[in-house]
Amino acid sequence: MKQIAVLASGQGSNLEAILEAIERGDLSGRVVLVISDRSRAPALEKARKRGIEALFINPKDFKNRADYDRALIDEISGAGVHLVVLAGFMRLLSADFIKAFPQRIMNIHPSLLPAFPGLDGVEQAFNYGVKVTGCTVHFVDEGLDSGLVILQEAVPVIQQDTLFTLEQRIHASEHRLYSTAIDLFCRDKLKVEGRRCQIVD
Ligand code: GRF
Repeated sequence: MKQIAVLASGQGSNLEAILEAIERGDLSGRVVLVISDRSRAPALEKARKRGIEALFINPKDFKNRADYDRALIDEISGAGVHLVVLAGFMRLLSADFIKAFPQRIMNIHPSLLPAFPGLDGVEQAFNYGVKVTGCTVHFVDEGLDSGLVILQEAVPVIQQDTLFTLEQRIHASEHRLYSTAIDLFCRDKLKVEGRRCQIVD
C-alpha cells in the first residue's frame, strides 16, 4: 500500500475528498502525514479528527526557504512516503525539495494548464472570458505549474456564472479528479514518457 503525505495551507477540501475516497475504497493509498505552514489551517484539524499525524511546521522558525524545505524533506522521508500531494500549499518549493521526490510530487491547479498558471487560476479564466476552463493534476517540476499533466477535466463557464459559482463547480471537479489521479499513481498505473503521462493497464 502506497503511503501519502499531504501538504496544505488552507481549508483542506481536497484533503477531505482524498480521505473520503480512501474511506469509500475508491483510492488505494494511505495518508500517513499532513503538514501545514499555517497553524490554524482547517486541513490540520481534518487530519487529526481521523487520527492522522498532522504537523504545523512554522516557516518563521527557519532562517530561509532551503532550511524550511529541508525540515519538510526530513519529516516526509522519515514517514516512508511514496507520494507527496500538494493540496492548496501556498509556498513555492525549492529545487532541492523537488529533487528529493522526483516525479513523486503532485499538485492540482484550478485551470486547464498551460492556461492561467499561478495564483487565482479561476479568476484569471473568468476575467479572460473563456467558455471552458477546468482543473489539472500534474507532477511538480521546478517551474510554476509547468510539470507534466496527469489528468485534466473541463468545466464549462455558463452565462449565469459568477466567480463564486464557477469556483464551486471547479472545486467539485477537483475533488473527483485528484482522488482519481492519486489512485492511479498508487496502483502503478501511470507511465511517463517524455512529457506524456500515459495510463496503463
Ligand atoms: C484548490 O482550488 C487548488 O486548485 C489550489 O488550492 C485550492 C485548495 O483548496 N491548488 P482546498 O484547501 O483543498 O479547499
